[in-house]
Amino acid sequence: MPGIELCRNVAVPGSMLIIGTSGLIGSCLYEALKGDHQVTGTFFSCPQKGLIKLDMTERNQVRQLMEELVPGVVFIPAAMPNVEACEENPGLCYQVNVEGVGYVLEAAAGVGAKIVYFSTDYVFDGAAGPYGEDEPPNPISVYGRAKYAVERRVQQSRSPWLIIRTTVVYGPEQQGKNFVLGLIRRVKQGAVVKVPRDQVGTPTYAPNLCRVVKELVELGEEGIYHVAGPDLLDRYQFALEAAQIFDLDQNLIVPVTTAELGQKAPRPLAAGLKVDKVRARVTTPLTGVREGLREMKRALQQ
Ligand SMILES: NC(=O)c1ccc[n+]([C@@H]2O[C@H](COP(=O)([O-])OP(=O)(O)OC[C@H]3O[C@@H](n4cnc5c(N)ncnc54)[C@H](OP(=O)(O)O)[C@@H]3O)[C@@H](O)[C@H]2O)c1
Repeated sequence: MPGIELCRNVAVPGSMLIIGTSGLIGSCLYEALKGDHQVTGTFFSCPQKGLIKLDMTERNQVRQLMEELVPGVVFIPAAMPNVEACEENPGLCYQVNVEGVGYVLEAAAGVGAKIVYFSTDYVFDGAAGPYGEDEPPNPISVYGRAKYAVERRVQQSRSPWLIIRTTVVYGPEQQGKNFVLGLIRRVKQGAVVKVPRDQVGTPTYAPNLCRVVKELVELGEEGIYHVAGPDLLDRYQFALEAAQIFDLDQNLIVPVTTAELGQKAPRPLAAGLKVDKVRARVTTPLTGVREGLREMKRALQQ
């Protein structure tokens, strides 16, 4: 009966699905949302209690999950976000970051769910950051081009959509991959860590990012929002701030240029994101670098 078919596909307000809950941003989102919303999360290769396994490059798996849950909002932090790995394997990068996410967009539109897609300041070329929402993207890496390709697909979706661009995200994380956790681990092992002094950005504390995103979603916002920390600094300065808060030996942190690092993927150097638009919309204050690092230290000690 047409009536029954219609009911089945009505998105339930408040029911939320996070694709990629086992990652840094996904896990913080889950924490931010779970008290007030009914949330389901997925993992891909790192099983975690309570999460459902999903490979978003498998179109049928994605469609089945979406039709089973019929969420009102689908958050998509899931990605292959390793910029070097994307440059080395553009085929896999495209399969995960563009095709896989494309299946999620298609299935979300099929059940009328709102899409919240996580993107990056790597959609810009880094010639003149920090960037506002209205400035034209011009990605310079395989990863950046994949993220921008998806942004354009999201904007053509039949579903309501919100694109969150963020950058240099740090915080407590089970998989320990982010810049600050990597720095702490390596310096504590006595390794010399070379850090670029010419990559400028706006580091973003993950739990703060997710509280802001929650507020935007609850306000029913759509469109593109830049959500990042308020402080503009280069990666070496950021590493020194982290060293101070986490009592690391600063002598082991060595400033270099990006060219000296010999990385495969070109990096946007003058990057970072302007946050005037989000500040004007939400009441949650944006967390600065020192405050974020201190909060992270407290969270890791618990
Ligand atoms: N971290 C940053 O500094 C930063 C900056 C700007 C933008 N972003 C964007 O923010 C998003 C989240 O970043 P993040 O740092 O949270 O990444 P992350 O920690 O690497 O998490 C990625 C998530 O995607 C999942 N995933 C990977 N392949 C998948 C697949 N084939 N099917 C389904 N799920 C899959 C992972 O699952 P498993 O771990 O279980 O394999 C994980 O849950 C990304 O889109 C990234 O582009 C991040």
